[in-house]
Amino acid sequence: MASQHKTLDDLATLVSLCKRRGFVFQSSEVYGGLNSCWDYGPLGVELKNNVKRVWWDAMTLRDDVVGLDASILMAPQVWKASGHVDGFSDPLVECKKCKSRHRVDKMKDPKKCDTCGSSELSEPRNFNLMFKTFMGPVEESAAVVYLRPETAQGIYVNFENVQISMRKKIPFGIAQIGKAFRNEITPGNFTFRTREFEQMEMQYFVKPGSDDEFMNMWKEVRFSFYSKVGFKMENLRFHQHGKGELAHYAKDAYDIEYKFPFGWNELEGIHNRTDFDLKNHQQLSGKKLEYFDEATKEKFIPFVVETSAGCDRMTLAVMCDAYREELAGEGEDDKRVVLGFHPDLAPIKVAFLPLSKKPDLMDLSHKLRSDLRHFKSQYDESASIGKRYRRQDEIGTPFCVTIDFETLNDKKVTVRHRDTMVQERVSMDQLNLYITEKLKNF
Ligand code: GAP
Repeated sequence: MASQHKTLDDLATLVSLCKRRGFVFQSSEVYGGLNSCWDYGPLGVELKNNVKRVWWDAMTLRDDVVGLDASILMAPQVWKASGHVDGFSDPLVECKKCKSRHRVDKMKDPKKCDTCGSSELSEPRNFNLMFKTFMGPVEESAAVVYLRPETAQGIYVNFENVQISMRKKIPFGIAQIGKAFRNEITPGNFTFRTREFEQMEMQYFVKPGSDDEFMNMWKEVRFSFYSKVGFKMENLRFHQHGKGELAHYAKDAYDIEYKFPFGWNELEGIHNRTDFDLKNHQQLSGKKLEYFDEATKEKFIPFVVETSAGCDRMTLAVMCDAYREELAGEGEDDKRVVLGFHPDLAPIKVAFLPLSKKPDLMDLSHKLRSDLRHFKSQYDESASIGKRYRRQDEIGTPFCVTIDFETLNDKKVTVRHRDTMVQERVSMDQLNLYITEKLKNF
């Protein structure tokens, strides 16, 4: 049985595991890498897809929320109306000595350069975080478009399309997963803050006056989501935004914070955005974005409660939370590193391991794997069985199935459980049912 656990206290350990085991690679690494950009490897993309899937199911397997996939490029007026052209900026200073740039509100001492300690700093200036590009062949100001800095606006400008086509009655929500871009001054901490990232956002349209009630409802729904997907609840907490912290659109806001190895930080935001966005789009576009309440015959612009989570950031938190080192007590190679993912999130569900490289055992392992191909699996025949268990532990595979010489006679395999390391003999013809049940009732 496992003895004492050590959790992750250093991000570098995870960064190295991610590269070694195919979760995350530096972008454009052969050219020396591109700062703050990361690529998901074969296991990383499975993990991230699973994160998206559990979020999507949690949000859209409800009567009151429907999905959307809006385009990244939008009419530039969108960002004028949303306040991003004028208000989405961070205060930036440049060190005259070492030329490094810093976000003033994040500096240890706003009078001294964080890199070289010099006090020769430029005056702070506001730096807009939106990426600009040009639509069409001519690079002129009339052709400027922005890469969206949040997915939310695609939802607001489609509010009426969705409400009418789906005949939705307030309160209802629209959920979306997609890329967002911000030209962050200080990206860092691996995939925590990057310039290109994915968001999982939901905008919930409510009657003005009921916004506080729905804010409370979504705070509860979103917090309990994390426990359902296996997070340790002692690593999560709420942080309410003070007056100076509120985004330009928010009346009230709570962050769900996670205890990363580099400290407590925002994982998801829950915002009361009032009628700020719809009202501004109605004003600038000249198109009515009101809702007509059949029951009361009232017309109004809905208020919006938003839940906004970063997909990359959640994937990072999932890995940090799942990581542990322990003394295995399983013989050779005694220390083991485990990513104890919830089975819904684990990139690989089952590994098939023939005890030795005897053709009979290998053939049977391949056949069994092929019969159970609906589970994402790996096949591994190299190195000792202990080493192969360690490899699967390190990528978070809940079950290893070992095919040994006895299997040829009794038609049973050994199923080894990742967390308890308990081993059970299971009939091959019962294996599908066994794994299905165990994954469901983990
Ligand atoms: N629509 C509201 C909105 O975008 P936000 O608090 O700016 O609110 C929401 O962002 C979430 O998006 C954050 O909680 C975080 O998880 C993620 N996020 C924001 N900026 C990010 C970045 N530069 N890199 C990775 N994730 C980011």
